[in-house]
Amino acid sequence: MDDQYESDEDGYPREIVGPWVSDKHHFLRHYVTASQGARGKMGGAHCLIDLYCGPGKARIRGGHGSVFGGTLTAVDAAARSRRGQAVPFTRVFISDVREDNVSACKARLSAISDIQVTSFVGEAETNVHKVVTNLPRRGIHLAYLDPYSLHQLPFSVLKALAEAPRVDLLIHFAASDMARNLERCDLWPRFDAVAPGWQDSCDTIRGKSVVRQQFFAYWTKLVQDLGYHVSDRVVSVKNTRRREIYRLVLASKHKLGDNIWRTLNDRSGQKGLSL
Ligand SMILES: C[S@@+](CC[C@H](N)C(=O)[O-])C[C@H]1O[C@@H](n2cnc3c(N)ncnc32)[C@H](O)[C@@H]1O
Repeated sequence: MDDQYESDEDGYPREIVGPWVSDKHHFLRHYVTASQGARGKMGGAHCLIDLYCGPGKARIRGGHGSVFGGTLTAVDAAARSRRGQAVPFTRVFISDVREDNVSACKARLSAISDIQVTSFVGEAETNVHKVVTNLPRRGIHLAYLDPYSLHQLPFSVLKALAEAPRVDLLIHFAASDMARNLERCDLWPRFDAVAPGWQDSCDTIRGKSVVRQQFFAYWTKLVQDLGYHVSDRVVSVKNTRRREIYRLVLASKHKLGDNIWRTLNDRSGQKGLSL
């Protein structure tokens, strides 16, 4: 096991993560909870899709004990009732490049819920198609897309999800990767897969921060062009040195997703600032 993982009491690996992970799980949990009403009204079978599922549990570096990863957080949130109404996910699709992560996540889901779990091992870019062909037509599905770096989320993944009936997207946009690597021309082919055509739209001879802003705006526009409302409330999560680690972006096929996203408080109880 590499040093990013350790064995948990249940014998499965858990990931060792920075404290900023709590923000994404906070927003994921609260978005799932707050959208219960919409799922309930729509009816049908609602699915959760996690193409970068990890092992299902983590330990915050410097702390003890385990916390739920994203998949378990979302499944748990949907199963809890809000104002007397719980609208659980009917089915969850999980996938990861690491086979040990997929089997750990699957086992841990079965330990907390009797939800139907469909799992795949491999790159998101490939497995997204297997998920999309299996999605029920009626339902509000949520894809939680949580890669470590931008190139692990090529635009083809978003495009495939957009072609499915109604899949909302909660995207971890790896801003630290953009900050570190966007100025490296040797890595531009990686960024081409993330935001095809960006080099024609961004003025790459401008200052670093301008190019980053332009890149993010261009990527946002590409997602909009897939038929999504991309919320302009972008949650920017920073480390203890105030360096941005990631952005959380909510893209929804229906304006209601954006309305719900805007109502969520951050962990300090504030509505938070848009970028
Ligand atoms: C940030 S971790 C996921 C954490 C998890 N979503 C959670 O909330 O607890 C990113 C995961 O993506 C997986 N991964 C990396 N590249 C991938 C790719 N191209 N396709 C699918 N999974 C990938 C890694 O093995 C890792 O488990």
